[in-house]
This record gives sequence, C-alpha cells and structure tokens, in this order.
Amino acid sequence: MAQAQRTPVTATVPNDLEPFWLPFTANRAFKRRPRLIAGAKDMHYITPEGRKLIDGSAGLWCTNAGHNRDPIVAAIQAQAAELDFAPTFQFAHPKAFELAARVASLAPGDLDHVFFCNSGSEAVDTALKIALAFHKVRGEGSRVRLIGRERGYHGVGFGGVAVGGIVSNRKQFGTLLVGVDHLPSTYNREKQAFSIGEPEWGAHLADALDGLVTLHDASTIAAVIVEPMSGSSGVLPPPKGYLERLRAICDKHGILLIFDEVITGYGRLGYAFAAERYGVQPDMITFAKGVTSGSVPMGGVVVRKGVYDAFMQGPEHVIELFHGYTYSAHPLACAAGLATLDLYRAEGLFERARKLEMPWADAAMGLKGLPNVLDIRAVGLTAGIDLASKPDGVGKRGLEALELGFFEHDVMFRAVGDTIALSPPLIVTESQIGELFGKVAKIIKAVA
Ligand SMILES: Cc1ncc(COP(=O)(O)O)c(C=O)c1O
Repeated sequence: MAQAQRTPVTATVPNDLEPFWLPFTANRAFKRRPRLIAGAKDMHYITPEGRKLIDGSAGLWCTNAGHNRDPIVAAIQAQAAELDFAPTFQFAHPKAFELAARVASLAPGDLDHVFFCNSGSEAVDTALKIALAFHKVRGEGSRVRLIGRERGYHGVGFGGVAVGGIVSNRKQFGTLLVGVDHLPSTYNREKQAFSIGEPEWGAHLADALDGLVTLHDASTIAAVIVEPMSGSSGVLPPPKGYLERLRAICDKHGILLIFDEVITGYGRLGYAFAAERYGVQPDMITFAKGVTSGSVPMGGVVVRKGVYDAFMQGPEHVIELFHGYTYSAHPLACAAGLATLDLYRAEGLFERARKLEMPWADAAMGLKGLPNVLDIRAVGLTAGIDLASKPDGVGKRGLEALELGFFEHDVMFRAVGDTIALSPPLIVTESQIGELFGKVAKIIKAVA
C-alpha cells in the first residue's frame, strides 16, 4: 500500500470573500466574520491561524472514520496517479465492481445491486426514478405517486425536495413534483421528550400510510421514502415498531419502501445500515457521505435483487435504465470507498459506535436542565438538543451557539434552526465525548 504524502497547512485568509456563494449559509453574516477551515486530522479541524477545533459533527455527518486518515489519503493519491477517469456508460473500471460488491455485502438480505452517483441528493433522485421505472417495466405504470414525510430531508434535487418535508427547503421553489404526499412527522415533544434511543410512543403514525392508500388507491402509489433516523431536521429517531409497521403496510399494497440512509449508513447508528439495527429490510437504500468518509464525493442506491432483475429483460442491446451521471463510480471515489470500508472493518468502527452509544447518550442527557433546553434526543452517535428560540427570531440562538463554538470554544457542530446537532467521527474517545459536551454546556449557558 502506498504511503500518504502530507502537506503542511499553509492556507491564508482570502482577500476577497465575495465571489463564493455559500450553500445553506447566511452569506452576509458569514462574510462579516468568516469561519474558515484550512486543515484537518482525525478528530480535529485546523483554522488558517492554526487553531484546533474538535469536530462535533463529522464535517456534515460524513467523516465517520475521522479526518485525513492515512490509508484513505494514500488510496486517493495512488488512484489519481493510475486512472483519473473512466466512463461508466458502456465501459467500466475494476474498482467499481469491487466497491459495489463491498457495499452490497454490508446491506441486509437480497439488497445486492448498487447504482453509483455522487451525492445524497443524486442517490435520492436515482432511487425515486428507479421506483417509477420499476413499476413501469412490470406493467404497473399507473403507480406514479411518491410519498415522503413531514420534516424529512432528502437532499436538494427536485425529487428529494418534493418528497422532503422541511418547509424552508420547499417554499422558494414553486410546485416541485406533482403527485407527492407526506406522512406525518414522527416527532411529538409532549410524548417523547428526553427519550434515549427510539421513543416508545409513535408506531401508530405509520398507519397514516393506510390513510393515503385509501385516499389515492394503492394502484397509484410507487414508493415511500423515509430516513430511518431523521438527521438534518434535528435527530429524530424512529418510534419503536414504526419502521416495521411501515414495511408491513408497503407489503400489503405492493409499494416500494426506500430507506434514505445518507446519514444513518456506515456506522452512525452502530451498524453498517440502520436497516440492520431495526431488522427491517427496505427495497432500496440510498447512501453517500460515510461511504468515502467524506473524502471524495460519492453516493449510490442499493437495490434488492428483484428490483434489478425486473429491468434485465428484453433485447440485450437495449439500455435498461436511462439514467446515470458522468461521474457515477468515479475512480477516485471508488478507491476512497474501498480504503474507507477497509478502515471501518480494521478498526471495528461500527461496533465502536455501538459500544459508545450509552456513554454518549448519558453525556447528552447531562445537559437537561440547562437554560432553554427543551428536549434532548440521542441515538447511535448522534444527539439533537433543542433550544428555545429567541423572541426576536427562530435560528438566532442556534447561530449564536455555532459562532461561539467556532470562535471561543474551539468546537464545531451543526445548528439546525435552534437545535444543536452532534454526530462526531466514530473514532471519538470517551474523554473527547466529555470534552465535547462540556463545551456545548458552556455555550448553552453563554447563549441563555
Ligand atoms: C437523509 C439525507 N438524504 C440526502 C441528503 C443529501 O445529501 P447531499 O448533500 O450529499 O446531496 C442528506 C444530506 O444531509 C441527508 O441527510
């Protein structure tokens, strides 16, 4: 195996911040006081001035193996020197097959074929398109409706936003897709506040799917997509029994069930996929982020054998699915993915997350009683801490907490509105868990 070559962190603060339009960012506030990151190693980010920040969010829920890990860096460097790009339309390169097999081997049951793309958003749109096309090739072309869930996040493609349920992500963009409906959110603070893991209350909310079938008829519904644990809307674990119930209702009506595991995949909940944790087999799993530990963009969809096989008929010279991306199974992403999966296995990082789950949840619940803390949820190596909004604006307290963390407490985390969301790299130690929640406690007091 090649050795990773290291370059020192040399970045300086850019003179002109104006040309870059930052995604999902308050640009004017950011540019007044930029939060710049220049380097990273293991559990830490490094600013251009050389300050070290503990990473409480694995970047954006993605660097599950920790930052700039040697085997991943070396694999990317070696791959760049060997094969920069190969098309996967009518051609392919060996590592694409190798990675597909490895990804499939981590998925439960007969989820055994992998379609690659470059992000979670593309993975979601790919899965929705496969669902529609699947019914069509089987002669059930009337199944065109897609069902998501309130508060769901499925990326930013038109399909993903349409099935998503976060109003601010939807309201600027017109009518989105037609024929989309939503299940109710599984979160209810009154019934679930301060639950560790999956809340007891809420399995019955899956029955709303039966209601939608009554309204539209099963013959019009193609698929249901949910995050097993909703991350981007503030860490919402599924109520006990909810996913099982959803599976049963989908089975009853011939509806495909898609688990969006862009966050929950690759160890976040202590297993390769949340489908394994919950013992529920979906028809498709979307993944991204952790597959390369965030090092090179990659996403994909794992589909059940029956879904793949449905397409493999008719004349052999005809393309079975008119879909794909120039960079599907990019060689750098495949090399990074293989090295990442090796690292997860070598270091037992999924099991490690499972073992740390209780100490992590206990540390999270230690914040109960601090000013403005309305609820805390913890599952796997994630936590969502809801803070009361300030009277003069939703999201202000959250942004203040994030800024204070970055500039004064050397910690980075996500703020989703006024919810602090934590999801460290899975290499986090127990003492770093203590450090992280210690810093968050100070920040919560400071923004009171
Ligand atoms: C469940 C889920 N689906 C899809 C996405 C979109 O992924 P990306 O930002 O890579 O497009 C995300 C991103 O956080 C996600 O959490």
